[in-house]
Amino acid sequence: MAKRPVVVATRHFPEAVEARLQALFDARLNPEDNALSNEELIARAQGADGLMVAATGKVDADLIARLPQSIRIIATFSVGYEHIDVAAAERRGILVTNTPDVLTDATAEIALLLLLGAARRAHEGAAMLRQAQWTGWTPTQLMGIGLTGKRLGIVGMGRIGQAMAQRARANGMEIHYYNRTRLPVEQEQGATYYSTVEALLPQAQFLSLHCPLTPQTTKLMDARRIAMLPNGAVLVNTARGGIVDDDALIAALKSGKLAAAGLDVFDGEPKVDPRYFAIENAFILPHMGSATIETRNAMGFRAIENLKTVLIDGKQPPHRVMA
Ligand code: 8YV
Repeated sequence: MAKRPVVVATRHFPEAVEARLQALFDARLNPEDNALSNEELIARAQGADGLMVAATGKVDADLIARLPQSIRIIATFSVGYEHIDVAAAERRGILVTNTPDVLTDATAEIALLLLLGAARRAHEGAAMLRQAQWTGWTPTQLMGIGLTGKRLGIVGMGRIGQAMAQRARANGMEIHYYNRTRLPVEQEQGATYYSTVEALLPQAQFLSLHCPLTPQTTKLMDARRIAMLPNGAVLVNTARGGIVDDDALIAALKSGKLAAAGLDVFDGEPKVDPRYFAIENAFILPHMGSATIETRNAMGFRAIENLKTVLIDGKQPPHRVMA
């Protein structure tokens, strides 16, 4: 039997995903999910053909330069790929792939959960119960903000932004959006387009971020832009923590400029600015956007499809990303 391509998995992936990796490749798995230093990863990659990585590990130019010559593809188990220096990989002739589409619905579901949870103070109610602090219903207890008839601003109207718009519409919201390019009218489904973020912000009683983290979107939501939102707005972030300036967001949540925020992602993950823990109007989750069994399996299968196309079929991968 011909030698099977060798693939190194940097994380412990779902069972079905690892089973498929083992069926197709000589898979070097990480069943203990140990955090690998660059040195350990380079040692594991000796003689390997491909890497399957996650967004939790930086694959920077220095690491790419030190990877063995044999590595031909880095397949990330994520749609976001800001953790990989794609230009450095291209310079070494290494392909980089991601996993678009399959996590669209799961991420939009978490965005809607955060939007509802933040607006309706779900975690405050849950904490009151669990801490045995609930003494009974009162006419003014835990009053939140309703969704019906409100304007939702979406920054980044790609796959996930559009899936969020669909869910928000079903909750009676009006959709307003910023995207680098305007969508074709039939895809807008009645949404109002703004050609700049600054034009959108004053309209957005709710704002949901769905753009990638790039040099242009780093700290996009800074103090100046948060100030442009209507008073009492709700901000939701399921994209990347780095898109928001934590100091500015925390100040706006404390002052009441923003009524609430729903956050699934944090700058510098897995570290979270500890000030968020004490802010009642921050509804926070630990990066769970794509965390369903169906989605994580589909992400893994998509990453494997990319590896297989390159390493077994000798073709271009279906989900290549470019610098
Ligand atoms: C992943 C994500 O769970 O795909 C992405 O970009 O942010 C998440 O859905 C995570 O990045 C795993 O690599």
